Amino acid sequence: MNKESRTQEYRAYIEKYLTDWYERFHNEPQKNLFEAMEYSLLAGGKRLRPVFAFEFCRLCGRDWRDAAPFAAAVEMIHTYSLIHDDLPSMDNDDFRRGRPTNHKVYGEAMAILAGDALLTDAFAVASTAKLPNPGDMADAIGILAECAGSLGMVGGQVLDILAEQRECTEEDVLAIQDRKTGALIRAACALGAVAGGATQEQFDAACQFAAGLGLAFQIRDDMLDVIGTAEEMGKGVGTDAAKNTFVRLYGLEKCEELVRKYTDYALEALNCFEDTEFLKELALSLTSRTV
Ligand code: IPE
Ligand code: IPE
Ligand code: MG
Ligand code: MG
Ligand code: MG
Repeated sequence: MNKESRTQEYRAYIEKYLTDWYERFHNEPQKNLFEAMEYSLLAGGKRLRPVFAFEFCRLCGRDWRDAAPFAAAVEMIHTYSLIHDDLPSMDNDDFRRGRPTNHKVYGEAMAILAGDALLTDAFAVASTAKLPNPGDMADAIGILAECAGSLGMVGGQVLDILAEQRECTEEDVLAIQDRKTGALIRAACALGAVAGGATQEQFDAACQFAAGLGLAFQIRDDMLDVIGTAEEMGKGVGTDAAKNTFVRLYGLEKCEELVRKYTDYALEALNCFEDTEFLKELALSLTSRTV
């Protein structure tokens, strides 16, 4: 199956899964909350994290659909991180996924609560996974919590904010990016592997892939903040000028090299799997993405 059709298949599946999950609650009285959550969750987005979760499950030899609860959970946490990232007290952005940001439409209080609910509901969704080794569920929930929380994405967002006040070294920027972006990509790849009943070697390989890919992905995101267009990206550009990024540290040309270097590191990890054409092609396409 070629890259486009597999990506399409994974995306269509996660769209329906997320839509169906929340459709059941449409008669609840807290309608405004569900409307705000679904506004951001079902606004498109590349669904890259679900694609990674599905693909690692498949590479480990299981039906990729078995990873859906984990894929959905990571996408819900990712969406919450975007809603909060855009708040006036954080990046103060007006556009996301091709629409006005959540707080622009629903107000700050509802945007905060929609994020809170997406984060919390993610654990309910994840807990419905049927694993080849049911004893792995506690570890899986632990991975999700660690990647989302103070040691993961939230920790990275804090470092990102604090870094605005000072000059950073390469090591500082790596620490920020590995947490704020890398951690949720790691959750997606690692949990896909768990859903696939991975061996320790396969699990470690999924984590190495995520570490390289996460860095490459965020460096490209920071490049696109400078050279991308809002139309293509579906979010504001030029808004992170005050941030400490590799673009600020090294300039665009060196960043292109770094994206390739970290993508190569990610690809090296795939040697222990068979049938890795799709993932390789996908990873390489991200190095030149414009969306
Ligand atoms: C945006 O992530 C935030 C970053 C970590 C750079 P994506 O570029 O994956 O955003 P969506 O999900 O496609 O909207
Ligand atoms: C996003 O970093 C990381 C998150 C945890 C949301 P950015 O602030 O660069 O993401 P965008 O550019 O707003 O999507
Ligand atoms: Mg930010
Ligand atoms: Mg931002
Ligand atoms: Mg950005």
